[in-house]
Amino acid sequence: MQTIDLILVGLGNVHQRLLYLLDSRRELLADRYGLRVRVVGAADSRGAVADRDGIDPAALLAHKKAGGNAGSFSGGTPGATALDLLGRVRAGVLLEASPVNLVDAEPAASVVLAALDRGLNVVLANKAPLALRFGDLRRAAQASDARLAFSATVCGGLPVVNVGTRDLVAAQIRRVQGVFNSTSNYILTQMAAGQPYADALAEAQRRGIAETNPRLDVEGWDAANKLTIVANAVLGFDCTVRDVQPVEGVANAPASGPDGGRVRLLGVAERRNDGGYDLSVRPVALPREHKLAQVDGWQMGVLFESDLFESIFIAIDERGPTGTAAAMLRDVVNLARPDRG
Ligand SMILES: NC(=O)c1ccc[n+]([C@@H]2O[C@H](COP(=O)([O-])OP(=O)(O)OC[C@H]3O[C@@H](n4cnc5c(N)ncnc54)[C@H](OP(=O)(O)O)[C@@H]3O)[C@@H](O)[C@H]2O)c1
Repeated sequence: MQTIDLILVGLGNVHQRLLYLLDSRRELLADRYGLRVRVVGAADSRGAVADRDGIDPAALLAHKKAGGNAGSFSGGTPGATALDLLGRVRAGVLLEASPVNLVDAEPAASVVLAALDRGLNVVLANKAPLALRFGDLRRAAQASDARLAFSATVCGGLPVVNVGTRDLVAAQIRRVQGVFNSTSNYILTQMAAGQPYADALAEAQRRGIAETNPRLDVEGWDAANKLTIVANAVLGFDCTVRDVQPVEGVANAPASGPDGGRVRLLGVAERRNDGGYDLSVRPVALPREHKLAQVDGWQMGVLFESDLFESIFIAIDERGPTGTAAAMLRDVVNLARPDRG
């Protein structure tokens, strides 16, 4: 049995669901993968808790659900931070699921870089450190021989990064198009059915799918972040989210396109003759038969077009944060099994 000790940064929708999975899938993880996965540290905005013998995930989850925080949990320290945890407890993997900060990716970027410098593997749900500092993170990981996994950052449970990095071997990718953001897709679908914009957004927030700051969803920045991560990780195109132009949102998008076409907030990476990619996010009217026009409501979908694999289309219907939490668990398990075929 291999033991993996985790530090969780952020205890919101995603990591609360991960705590539930760690508790409810404990036996399955042991039986199927020979893994004992423990939480030895956790931080939220108000404090942190560390226990080298392992924190009971169900108890921490119940404490958060009852309005508590990491600092007020048994053994916790009010006001302590994720950086403090790194100095206080030994762990194998740091998982980052705090809110996106598109100004400077902080404090997540510093925490992630500090973890990588110490040789911890890192699993991200937070896109900002990758969207703004992908190269820095990759270099830090290489320097300390740590590993960085982020399959949860692009469309939650949909394995976009995994398919793109693992399966399109030797292909030259002409174009990637995606409906990357389910909150705005749900809003567009509901608007086409006559529901007001604000009601549709409120439903996405209620389900725990919307970003902490939902402007990131509806103004196109969440999709731009995901496109940037795909561009760096899959297309080998060194860029930041500032290279995505234009970035437009859904607030003023038409309810439908000409001839009954469907409007989708499309992220597109299009290969240029010089080998780089043009990146854009904007509402586009698609013919009804287009694969991405059929990505409805809570769904997200990505279409890869390449010379060797022609077109590969993948999609997910994700109505809550479970898929994202499961993708983080997937990364933890896969990091522990680097040689799996
Ligand atoms: N929700 C999804 O379906 C989804 C899907 C893919 C990716 N993500 C990404 O996952 C991340 C988390 O999403 P979420 O829905 O779980 O967000 P959330 O519900 O808003 O939770 C954010 C958590 O981060 C904590 N936090 C805030 N500032 C912090 C700091 N300085 N240090 C440590 N913790 C801090 C908050 O603390 P308090 O509890 O004290 O407020 C809260 O526990 C985001 O980056 C998001 O983009 C989410």
